Amino acid sequence: MPELALLGGEPIRTKPYPKWPVFDQRDIDAVTCAIQSGRWGGFPYPGPNTAKFAEKFSEFQGGGHAVPMMNGTITMEVALRAAGIGWGDEVIVPAYTFQATTYAPMAAGAIPVIVDIDPETYCIDPQAVKSAITNKTKAVIVVHLAAQMANMDAIMAIAEKHGLVVIEDAAHAHGAQWRGMGSGTIGDFGSFSLQSFKTLTTGEGGVLLCKDEHMAERAASIIDCGRPKDAQGEEYTMGVNYRWSELHAALGLAALERFPEQFQQRAAMADYLEESLSELPGIHILKRDLRHTRRSLYRYVIKMETGFYHCKHDIFCKALSAEGIPVDTGYPSMHRYELFQPRLSKLAVPTAFPEYFDFENMSFPVTERASEEESIWMGESIFRAGEEGVDDLVKGIQKLADHRDDLSEYTESH
Ligand SMILES: Cc1ncc(COP(=O)(O)O)c(C=O)c1O
Repeated sequence: MPELALLGGEPIRTKPYPKWPVFDQRDIDAVTCAIQSGRWGGFPYPGPNTAKFAEKFSEFQGGGHAVPMMNGTITMEVALRAAGIGWGDEVIVPAYTFQATTYAPMAAGAIPVIVDIDPETYCIDPQAVKSAITNKTKAVIVVHLAAQMANMDAIMAIAEKHGLVVIEDAAHAHGAQWRGMGSGTIGDFGSFSLQSFKTLTTGEGGVLLCKDEHMAERAASIIDCGRPKDAQGEEYTMGVNYRWSELHAALGLAALERFPEQFQQRAAMADYLEESLSELPGIHILKRDLRHTRRSLYRYVIKMETGFYHCKHDIFCKALSAEGIPVDTGYPSMHRYELFQPRLSKLAVPTAFPEYFDFENMSFPVTERASEEESIWMGESIFRAGEEGVDDLVKGIQKLADHRDDLSEYTESH
């Protein structure tokens, strides 16, 4: 076996993995048609493409009233505001996620209460949610992280007992299902991002799925400068312009047509990968809960044994990337995010409630271990490169295992 590419050897793979996003004539025709229609913007909301997309998206997810908007961060802010959650209310969020999940409650004026994750799935730990509930807790935002789903049975039971609003951050989970129910349709709200990396993308965009029709009317009002959206035309809200443009919606309709096939392709390749992964030394697959009946492959995360590879995940990812397999270490723990570092930004909530933002004294052992030592994040493109693309990934990891002493030396000298 030649030496590691990190140390100057030949990489396992020189061919790049497929690019994302992909497009075809359907996207060009859809956008051209939208441009020619003269109806580019989102006013009056919803425009015809947006309304059609909303209908098709909720049909695809299997429920909910869909309210498309500008991105998958404001979706969560709007959900909280529609539910009347704001100043001084506590919203429980997981420590392992993109910062948007935590920013959204702050944007609504609420306080994010960060809790740890389940070591087997890397999604929010229901026990930690239970322990964090106080008389100010109004909502919990769960994140269906990477190819996983949070334990929705446990979360819904806790929420029912304590009267909490449940928001599913399904930015990674378009098309996923829990006991046959679509992600984002189980809780009160489901939040989806359509940003360029996502498996269903329009460049930028977001969709809020609302279980309750009245919540959907309020959400639509909030994103359309407060104009009433109820049948009587009477309920004004405090709103701003977060409308989605018709050009984006046109792209969304084309993307939705292609999505089921891409979804199947990625899921099949993930199954194929798992057959080999379980045989690789020092590698652990996250738990596949049998209630998670349909997986959505946005990112795929595995754990490495730092003891076996004689290094932490940053060196592992550097070495595997040098072999031509693009992997990274994923998100930091929420309390280490830049979002909270520039304290001079005067975000209203941290300033008013400093006791909730004492990052030095926060500790989320499971998230810290995942984010600072052992998680390896793969991109969706690996799952669109056929069996050969997956085989190269497996060969790359096997090469690292065979040369783990070199990884140890590299770690010591860097
Ligand atoms: C878990 C999660 N939530 C929310 C978002 C925010 O989505 P957007 O970029 O559309 O605002 C992202 C985007 O990366 C995400 O990964």
